[in-house]
Amino acid sequence: MSPRILSTSALVGTALADLGTRFPDLRIAPFHSPEWTAALPGAEALVVMLSEPITEADLAAAPRLRAIGTYSVGVNHLPLAACEARGIAVVNTPGVLTDATADLTLALLLAVTRRVAEGEALVRSGAWAGWSPDQLLGPGLAGKACGILGSGAIGRAFARRVWALGMQPLFWDRDGSGGKVDFGPDRAPRRALADLLPQSAVLSLHCPLTDQTRGLLDRTALERLPVGAVVINTARGGILDEPAAMDLLASGRLGGVGLDVYADEPKVDPRWFRMPRTVLLPHLGSGTVETREAMAKLLCDGLAAALSAAQ
Ligand code: DGY
Repeated sequence: MSPRILSTSALVGTALADLGTRFPDLRIAPFHSPEWTAALPGAEALVVMLSEPITEADLAAAPRLRAIGTYSVGVNHLPLAACEARGIAVVNTPGVLTDATADLTLALLLAVTRRVAEGEALVRSGAWAGWSPDQLLGPGLAGKACGILGSGAIGRAFARRVWALGMQPLFWDRDGSGGKVDFGPDRAPRRALADLLPQSAVLSLHCPLTDQTRGLLDRTALERLPVGAVVINTARGGILDEPAAMDLLASGRLGGVGLDVYADEPKVDPRWFRMPRTVLLPHLGSGTVETREAMAKLLCDGLAAALSAAQ
C-alpha cells in the first residue's frame, strides 16, 4: 500500500504532483481542517508550511508518521526533540533560498534608508510638489559597518551584497565562535555581540529562532546600537523585541526598521503601522518563482528518500 502523504498545500511547481505519481495516496487539506484531522491518523508523511506549528498532540494523533517535510528552511514550528524521539525524519529546504532571502534583505535595507515607500506614497498621493534639497533624506551606507547576526549561508550572501555597497560586514555567531568568516569577496571577523552592536550602523538578523536566540535583540541589545542605527529582520520575529524596537524608533534612538517577519505571524502589532521610517513586508524572503520551485523539489525529493528508506 502506498504511504499516505498529507499536505496542507499543493506547493509551487509540479514537485508535489510528481511525488503523488510515486506515492498515490496524496491528500491536500488545509491545516487543522476537519479533512486534515481525519487524514492524520493514517498519514506517514506530512507537508506543512512555516506558519503551521506541529504539536506533540499532532504527533500522538499520527502513530504511522515517519517524516515531516516543511516548505521552509526554518524548523522552529516543529517539535524537533519529539520527532527525534519517535524516529520521525524532518525534511526542510536549506541552500536553495539563500540568494532570494539575501536579495530581499537588501531590498528592505535600501527601502528603509532611502525612504522608498514614503517616496512612492508621496508620488501616488498626487501631492508631490517637486524636487527639494532636503526632501526625504536618509543615511548613506558606504563606509559604514553592517552587523550580521548569523554567519550561515544567508548571512554570508547578505554580506556579499553590503560589501558591494562599500559597507564593512561584521559577524556574530550563536555558538560564540571567533575567527573570520569567508563570505566570498573578502573575510570579516566574528565578534562578540557586545563588541559588534556599538559599531553597527546597520544590523541584520540571519540566525534561526531557537531557545538561545529568542529575544536576543532585546531592549538592552538595541540600546547598544549607535544612535540612528537601522535594524532589518528577515529571519524570525521572535529574535527581535518588537515593542522595544518601536519605543526606540519613536524616540529617534533607532533610525529605521525593516521587517519581513513578525513574532506572531500573520498578526502584526498595529503600532507598527504608525511607525516612521519603517518598511513592513509579508514574509517574502524566499518569494521568487525559481526559489519556491526549488524548495518544493528539495522537499519532495527529501520526503521520497525518507519514505523509501523507512519502507
Ligand atoms: C524559511 O524558509 O524559513 C523562510 O522564512 C521562508 O521561506
